[in-house]
Amino acid sequence: KPIYVLNGPNLNLLGTREPEIYGRATLADIEKACAERAAQLGRTVVFRQSNIEGELVDWLQEARDKAAAVVLNAGAYTHTSVALHDAIKAIGIPVIETHLSNPAAREEFRHVSLVGQAAKGVIAGFGATSYLLAVEAAALIAQESQT
Ligand code: DQA
Repeated sequence: KPIYVLNGPNLNLLGTREPEIYGRATLADIEKACAERAAQLGRTVVFRQSNIEGELVDWLQEARDKAAAVVLNAGAYTHTSVALHDAIKAIGIPVIETHLSNPAAREEFRHVSLVGQAAKGVIAGFGATSYLLAVEAAALIAQESQT
């Protein structure tokens, strides 16, 4: 099964959005790098972005049957979304919370993660490399649990 890499609001603007915080890689660059890393690990990725909370909920539900594991950068919904928290709990497959920046080192409103309170683990602060580490973690965890 593939690894789902799901991206939340404003991540479509990567490359031009606050590059001093998020780097210069575009989401398309990150998608390509994730696909390459997954291929090295014998996996494929399904890579998506939405600004709409409910769409992310739909994709998490879809992942329950279709994905081996999920890499989720929920953007700002990380800090607010009970719906994403509940969806992660509901699907029962490993979800890895992922961020380009390190929210713990930023504004106080980013210190709470409702996603993280349901996720298997968190990778944050390494820029685009966070995604590659998360894909790797997802592949290893999926292999262990044979999903
Ligand atoms: C982010 C961190 C969030 O706090 C922020 O709202 C984002 C991006 C990150 O990848 O660093 O949109 O998820």
